[in-house]
Amino acid sequence: MAEIGVIGGSGFYSFVRDARPVTVETPFGQPSEAPVVGEVNGREIAFIPRHGADHRFPPHRVNYRANLWALNALGVRQVLGPCAVGSLRPELVPGTFVVPDQFVDRTWGREHTVYDGPPHPVVHTSPADPYCPTGREAVIAAGNGAVVPDGTMVVINGPRFSTRAESRWHAAQGWSVVGMTGAPEASIARELGLCYTSVAVVTDHDAGVVAGEGVTQAEVFEVFGRSIERLKILLADVIAQLPKPDVDCTCRHALDGTAAEGTAAR
Ligand code: ADE
Repeated sequence: MAEIGVIGGSGFYSFVRDARPVTVETPFGQPSEAPVVGEVNGREIAFIPRHGADHRFPPHRVNYRANLWALNALGVRQVLGPCAVGSLRPELVPGTFVVPDQFVDRTWGREHTVYDGPPHPVVHTSPADPYCPTGREAVIAAGNGAVVPDGTMVVINGPRFSTRAESRWHAAQGWSVVGMTGAPEASIARELGLCYTSVAVVTDHDAGVVAGEGVTQAEVFEVFGRSIERLKILLADVIAQLPKPDVDCTCRHALDGTAAEGTAAR
């Protein structure tokens, strides 16, 4: 069993001490990889590499439902979801960590709900405040002034990056960063009554933000790779600060008043 889940890049394997793979059956098929369970800063962690250990799943093929179901089945209460994003603002430079407080989901064609018709009940949850207030507070505190404490992440379907016009449009909406994996990950976590906290790592300025050639995959991987040690230090601090699982959180009440009340949330 584990209390905190991390869905991130495969660089996080080395983050978890005494890591052992566990097999978890889900109604939605296989997670991106068998979760590994181990210890970070005295807490029991489960980790799943979002794109698979060998980065074989593009963002639109990640089995978000199975990943979150598996973490929930392992006893996880809080999911930390670090991800790479492009910046929509000149001042959010590569290497910046942003703790989003909102997302805009512009993905399509993804399996985006665990309540997908019979045998499941019809369930409407509210992602009005999609991220866990406790988790966000812990990241902001651990960041000690060095993380951007809010922002809207627009999630595009990928795997291509945005055109300049799309990018300028996203920026003109007042959105801060653009990524490919933040949705439906966050809203599925909510459907399961899980706390979910995103930590967005800026790897590039998106195409319309500064003059240049546009974003490249090599640039994104290179900057994310350079940021991962700092990210691990931040998340290790966050993990130490997160309240114990028996402390209540608003996220756990996401199913209150729905047809699934008392089912998925433990
Ligand atoms: N992930 C990292 N950089 C990105 C960008 N510019 N657009 C979408 N997803 C990204």
